[in-house]
Amino acid sequence: MDTRIFKIDPEDIDIRKIREAGEILREGGLVAFPTETVYGLGGDACDAGASEAIYAAKGRPSDNPLIVHICEFSQLEEIAADLPDTARVLADAFWPGPMTLIVNKNQVIPHETTGGLDTVAVRFPSHPIANALIRESGCMIAAPSANTSGRPSPTQARHVIEDLKGKIDAIIDGGPVDIGLESTIVDLTEQVPTILRPGYINKHMLEEAVGEVRVDPGILGKENVHIRPKAPGMRYKHYAPKGNLKIVSGDREKVIEEINRLAAAGETEGKKVGIIATDETRDLYKAGIVISIGDRDDEYQIAHNLFDVLREMDECGAELIYSEEFSTPEIGNAIMNRLLKAAAHQVIEV
Ligand code: TXA
Ligand code: MG
Repeated sequence: MDTRIFKIDPEDIDIRKIREAGEILREGGLVAFPTETVYGLGGDACDAGASEAIYAAKGRPSDNPLIVHICEFSQLEEIAADLPDTARVLADAFWPGPMTLIVNKNQVIPHETTGGLDTVAVRFPSHPIANALIRESGCMIAAPSANTSGRPSPTQARHVIEDLKGKIDAIIDGGPVDIGLESTIVDLTEQVPTILRPGYINKHMLEEAVGEVRVDPGILGKENVHIRPKAPGMRYKHYAPKGNLKIVSGDREKVIEEINRLAAAGETEGKKVGIIATDETRDLYKAGIVISIGDRDDEYQIAHNLFDVLREMDECGAELIYSEEFSTPEIGNAIMNRLLKAAAHQVIEV
């Protein structure tokens, strides 16, 4: 399939290109587009065939539900059954923005889109291109992240091109995304709102808006790996680079010493070694291909660069990858959640 590339400046949107892309969606085709979190692979959420095509293009298991993207709160009311009051409260606080709400569904959205579930994930993104596309297409847009299943989520159009060119109708290149981690997922079908996937909107921010919030015990870290996460997508090994990634955790000096030791040992065995460092530590490594993820004190920069760095490790052919740990105050949980999954929870404590 010939994949059309529409280059669109988010600050000066060419509405004719958006209309062409919208036409493709209305006809049942697939269009990848930028959001403020990561790029999404969109299809008409009400069209069962489009959802099936999304699963096929990504190579994604069809029991892993898609997120429905909307451009008005009333569209949530249109597709939800018995919407709780907390939906309005959280929407007022964080929409448009990087938060996805899980609610009970009515029959408007087909089961093909929700992986067979009677609940539906809904997000009102803030990215101007995403907004314009939803509005102009007249469709609610079902969109998972626009990567091949199992690969790091795409934060730039070139990542989408790498994974999906030739498999979908069009890609809108709107430049690099802002946040770089997928949206926070909040389940409103439980008594207490529950975080199923951490993101830029953290627990504290949600609690300020809505009171008590819980975290799905299935995503709480290595002591809990035996508990099944509620979001199907959180159960798979995910975000993984091709090399074997391990996180080294502990005092900074010991971490650097250990990574240097492991890197030298790997190279002695003839392996290509990659190291995920920070601006502060990059010059302290003596072996391997060292890539800085950014300034250790700027957690938003780390979040923004994480998936790109994992892809770069693939590009340089790293077989063994060692990463420092990044536990930062606001979104460190979200960063470490992705990194731990990419490493299949392999952590070396020093
Ligand atoms: O930021 C984002 O959320 C991006 C952009 C494109 O909006 N989308 C994204 O979609 O990350 P995806 O498909 O990669 O992740 C959706 C996650 C999966 O873990 C899926 O299992 C979960 O949401 N999910 C979707 N519907 C659900 C439901 N009804 N119940 C529980 N989990 C659900
Ligand atoms: Mg994804």
